[in-house]
Amino acid sequence: MARHIDILEHPQTAIEVATATLAEGLPIGLPTETVYGLAADATNPAAIARIYETKGRPRFNPLICHMSDLAMAERYAVFDPISRKLAEAFWPGPLTLVLPLRSDSGIHPLATAGLDTVGIRVPQGFAGNLIRAFDRPLAAPSANTSGKISATSADHVDDDLGERITLILDAGASVVGVESTIVKVEDGEIRLLRPGGLAASEIERVAGRALKRKKKASAAIEAPGMMASHYAPGAAVRLDATEVSANETLIRFGTPDIAGIEKAVAVLDLSANGDLSEAAANLFDFMKRADATGAATIAFSHIPDEGLGEAINDRLRRAAAPRE
Ligand code: TXA
Ligand code: MG
Repeated sequence: MARHIDILEHPQTAIEVATATLAEGLPIGLPTETVYGLAADATNPAAIARIYETKGRPRFNPLICHMSDLAMAERYAVFDPISRKLAEAFWPGPLTLVLPLRSDSGIHPLATAGLDTVGIRVPQGFAGNLIRAFDRPLAAPSANTSGKISATSADHVDDDLGERITLILDAGASVVGVESTIVKVEDGEIRLLRPGGLAASEIERVAGRALKRKKKASAAIEAPGMMASHYAPGAAVRLDATEVSANETLIRFGTPDIAGIEKAVAVLDLSANGDLSEAAANLFDFMKRADATGAATIAFSHIPDEGLGEAINDRLRRAAAPRE
């Protein structure tokens, strides 16, 4: 059983116990503004190996390294002017930059899956304070079994990984609710590797140029971990539903017309007034709740593909993708 520490009630204890646990090479459940991470010392190969083992994650899928601020990040990676501008505008926050790794950085190749680049993010709030206290980068994927739904509360982490880790820090529900947006600057172009908690339009506004997207959402591995089937609940997932049947739970966005709604096993409102930020914050928790209704299928009504809707639809397409 993992020990829980509430970071609002016991911030100092949380920092002390967490830094001691990390120094032992053990991963911890760590709240960030996007989702909960499974965090370990990015310079310690045994600690990183435990992340892969705990999640059942393929080792060719690199981990995001979390830093306390831009100055710390510059010790580990090389910034081009566009990436620096984005870091200054959006860190701390839900943006991950893929950058050339400094050869003497000390980040272990297990964390980057041997690539010559590293994904770096500066999280908001407590996680940043913890990294400052620990004074080393923390490698942290989302705190869920590989392929399953990401955790947005300490209880989600406990339900999934509680038997396999010793410490979970509790900060309540994650504010953003979907993972960070990942971009990589290449030949003066900003490539969107994963839509996420920072809307692409925000990045375009600051950069003064359009992001380069993949032609279509495909199974091709762009950010190496972006396999087609991912974020999978136990139930099947169906998108753009305009009607429901008796073995389905409906997750609704806004107030769409849905035929047969009285037959649904349950109806959950991601955001009754059509707010995409609220929908993102609720998304993973509602998928778990819908799964718990026992319905064979979770049907989602249409969600617009703008703002945070791009990240929500990306996750839903993966949840709906054929499973192996
Ligand atoms: O919000 C988030 O990003 C959360 C929190 C915990 O920070 N973390 C997260 O990590 O979502 P994870 O491991 O579930 O997803 C990381 C993604 C993977 O798709 C991985 O392939 C990609 O980032 N990635 C990491 N390093 C990369 C690199 N050097 N080049 C390309 N993609 C990379
Ligand atoms: Mg993940």
